[in-house]
Amino acid sequence: MTATVVARRQSVPLEETVQLRIPGPTPIPGPVREAMARQMINHRGPEFAELIGAVTRRLKGFFQTSNDVLLLTASGTGALEAAVVNTLSPGDRVLAVSIGVFGDRFAEIARAYGADVVSLSISPGQAADPDVVKRALATSGPFKAVLVTHNETSTGVTNDVEAIAQVVHESDALLLVDAISSVGSIELKTDDWGCDVVLTGSQKGWMVPPGLAMVSVSAKAWEAYQTARLPRFYWDLGKARSYLERGQTPATPALSILFALDTALELMEREGMAEIFARHRRCGDRTRNGVKALGLELFADEAHASDTVTAVKVPNDLDAARLLQVLRAEGVVLAGGQGAQAGKIFRIGHLGWISEADIDEVLAALARAMPLARRVPASR
Ligand SMILES: Cc1ncc(COP(=O)(O)O)c(C=O)c1O
Repeated sequence: MTATVVARRQSVPLEETVQLRIPGPTPIPGPVREAMARQMINHRGPEFAELIGAVTRRLKGFFQTSNDVLLLTASGTGALEAAVVNTLSPGDRVLAVSIGVFGDRFAEIARAYGADVVSLSISPGQAADPDVVKRALATSGPFKAVLVTHNETSTGVTNDVEAIAQVVHESDALLLVDAISSVGSIELKTDDWGCDVVLTGSQKGWMVPPGLAMVSVSAKAWEAYQTARLPRFYWDLGKARSYLERGQTPATPALSILFALDTALELMEREGMAEIFARHRRCGDRTRNGVKALGLELFADEAHASDTVTAVKVPNDLDAARLLQVLRAEGVVLAGGQGAQAGKIFRIGHLGWISEADIDEVLAALARAMPLARRVPASR
């Protein structure tokens, strides 16, 4: 499967072949794009009930859960907010394990709603050590919830959520997992690992445009929902669940994105979950090995490097902005660093519709671009 993307923009009248390799939005296969051209349907009618039923069933397979899985018309951040407002009350103590920008965002949301957030910030590029989490739980607890990012897209690091879940389960805390750039691409066993809330966004490994977020909710999280007192309306998951029982959503859903998701899930089922994970692993390995072969250094601790996004250090003699610009002119779109890592790293997304051939194209373009992005030594 090669994912040569044909993008049409008003400002670029010719068809342009682009390797879009940012960690979301990701390229979209033809059948998924075609699904979005479908005529609208009544979102309160039987066709929609069938659609949301089928999508939800399929999502449960990829979430590896028998918990409720609910759809929100939102980007991933909406699902982070939903996780917070449906389980917490003002003043609840929360341990926010952050290994980067998105871990910080989860903490910020909880803080914005009035939770008493204790941040456990791990050095960027590193994963959270379960023993360190255990110590924080013991010394600063008890906590109502632990927030953790499965795959930190800003640094290219995957946390060992299975091991973190084990230490969290030694306490009474809920485990809320940002799996926006992992579930469906990297193994995440929601039920076996005991993750109470797991959430993702359509524009990541699902090969669908942005616009839908998916959230799984355990029985323990529903119990918390009953007593949670943070304000909620659009993000009310209880309302989403009761509408789902009737084959509906509380508000008008992003129908075209749902058509796309239905088709993408069909493609994913055809490939099989084990093969999808293996393909992401192969693409991750190929990216890391290729980058190192070019003399570049990985930003992430390689023992925890992500199979959906690779962060690469920009050496002193390279201009990061120029590098991305040269690559773009060649039709390869990569992502820069975020927050404190801006200008210091660049990121290669390898999730969703991606093959090893795509990785080879990106690496070849990178090899050609590097000499053109060297800093000019200051003249004396
Ligand atoms: C791990 C993670 N968390 C949160 C987000 C935020 O999601 P969104 O931009 O869809 O709101 C992203 C998006 O890149 C992400 O990768």
